[in-house]
Formats: sequence, C-alpha cells, structure tokens
Amino acid sequence: MALILGLESSCDETAAALVTSDRRILAHRLAGQEAAHRPYGGVVPEIAARAHVEMLSPLIAAALADAGVTLADVDAVAATAGPGLIGGVMVGLVTGKALAHAAGKPLIAVNHLEGHALSPRLSDPDLEFPYLLLLVSGGHCQLLLVEGVARYRRLATTIDDAAGEAFDKTAKVLGLGFPGGPAVEVAAALGHAIVPLPRPLKGSPEPHFSFAGLKSAVVRAHDAKTWAVEDIAASFQAAVVDCLIDRTVRALGQAGKVTALVVAGGVAANTAVRTALSGLASAHGLRFVAPPLWLCTDNAAMIGWAGAERFAAGLTDPLDVAARPRWPL
Ligand code: KG4
Ligand code: ZN
Repeated sequence: MALILGLESSCDETAAALVTSDRRILAHRLAGQEAAHRPYGGVVPEIAARAHVEMLSPLIAAALADAGVTLADVDAVAATAGPGLIGGVMVGLVTGKALAHAAGKPLIAVNHLEGHALSPRLSDPDLEFPYLLLLVSGGHCQLLLVEGVARYRRLATTIDDAAGEAFDKTAKVLGLGFPGGPAVEVAAALGHAIVPLPRPLKGSPEPHFSFAGLKSAVVRAHDAKTWAVEDIAASFQAAVVDCLIDRTVRALGQAGKVTALVVAGGVAANTAVRTALSGLASAHGLRFVAPPLWLCTDNAAMIGWAGAERFAAGLTDPLDVAARPRWPL
C-alpha cells in the first residue's frame, strides 16, 4: 500500500489530498477562488497564481493533520504539471518538488487531464481498462479511449470552445454570474427548451466537437429580447447534451470493445449530461460510470490517485521536470 500526497493548482482551485493505492482518501482540502474572480466574470491568471501561493502550504498542512500523517509517511508527491494557467501550475509543481526533495521521496508530475481521466477508477474499484471517456471541463472537451495508465487514444476534441467554456460564456451573456456551469444548470431547471438553437457538427462524419456557433446563437437569442433567460438556458443545455451524445455515439462505433462509458471533468457534474449519458450507456449495454460531483470538478484527490496509479506502474519524474501550459494527453 502506497500513500500519495496530491497537489492541484492549475486553474482556480487550490487543493491538497492524501490518497492511498487501495483507494482510501485520507484527507482532501480545497480552497476555491470564486469570490476573487467574480468581479471580472472569469478567472484572472495573476490573481489565481497569487492565491495559490497563499493557500497551498496551509492546505497541505491541514490535509496532513486531517490524515494524521507527516511528510515522512508519504511514499511520493504528485503535483499537477500542466496543462493550465502557467503561474498556478508552477506554484503547485515547485511546491511538490520542494516537498519531494526535502522528504527524499519521488516526484510524480501529473497531467491534469490524466487526473480527470483516471478519477473514475478512484471512486469505482470495478472500473477496468479499456473504457471510453468523455472528458468535459472548462478547458477541454474530448473523447478518449483509456487503454491503461499512460495509454490514452484521443478519438475527438473540440475545434473551438470546450463544453465548460460554452457554459461559462452563456452564463456571462445571460447575466447568470460566475462560475457559469452551475448557474446555467439552475436557470435551465426553471425553463423550457423552446428556443431554436443549432447543434454544431451533429451528424458530421468527422469526430470532433464545436460549440462556438452555439454560443453565438445564444447571444442572438438573448439580443432578440423575445425569450426568457431560463428558456435560453434550458435550450442551450439541451443543445450541448445533444452534441455530446451525438459525438459519443460516433466514438462508441470507433472505439472497439470497451468495459464502460465514463464521464469526467467539471461538466460531468451537470445532471442533464449525466442522465443522457447514462441512458446512452444502457442503450448500448454498457456500464455507466461517473465520479461523485465533488470528484468531477478540480480537486487534489484525483491528482493523488493518478499519482498512485503512475507510482504503481513505476512512473516517477526527475526534479527538473518542467511545468507545461499546454500538454495534450
Ligand atoms: O474540471 P473543472 O473543474 O476545471 C477544468 O479543468 O476546466 O471544470 C470546470 C468547468 C467550468 O467551465 C464549469 O462551468 C463547468 O466545469 N461546470 C459545469 C457544472 N459544474 C461545473 N457545467 C455545467 N453544469 C454544471 N453543474
Ligand atoms: Zn479540470
């Protein structure tokens, strides 16, 4: 049994967690920065980096205390090394390097997307490779064939905006505030999907996603002043769900035999998205796996777990490993 300290700081959540290789989350601490970014309607990289500097050390100390362990008990330190806002990534990675060096423990540089991709295996011990993963977050919208640890085949990605980005921009246009995804979901629950909106790339022979045209259509529907905000939100959410399902059906046809249909990333916290994917999985006779909501949005338990999986596979990194703003899986 290995004990891993996980650190996350790639966007606007600062987080530290202690996770074991037998799937016990001994501690997970998280500090969001919504209030600091809200006046700007989006994440401001410089503000985020400074907040990570302030928050990370106290969160690590608190997580170690929660778990009743010290750094000497940890087998490896796993830190997000990208992709993300480079200032924040550097704060977490440099902290991870310092702790690993001071404690004489290996460092594991985790790709944030791998954290999301493997997180369903933390919450579901029965999830075996290979599985088809819909990874939907603020920065990414991808379909990945997860064949094993460090073995990912990208079947589709977005040609413009990520799904979460579309939720965030829609929330901004509709005046629903920040962070956008949960606000759109709440508004959508009060409305009806009666506004005609496009489904970009639906039915297309190419595998990819596109959401930019949908966002522009939301702007036009809002400017027309004939629709209630709740109805636009409900129609937008329905259009996103349709696109996600259409592209996932196509990928299922390409993926070969898989053990499950899996969703992860912040947008996987959306109930309409989860419900539609669950229905799709059962229509294909597949298991549907979605991590609990708190494990879908950014956190350090998923980084600790990806660290545990990599550690078990003998994958550790040198202390001069670089932080990477862009890092495709
Ligand atoms: O994975 P995540 O926490 O951070 C990134 O790695 O990007 O994802 C954040 C994204 C944001 O765009 C946020 O608006 C979206 O996930 N999100 C949601 C919901 N909760 C978070 N989108 C739709 N419905 C939600 N309930
Ligand atoms: Zn994320």
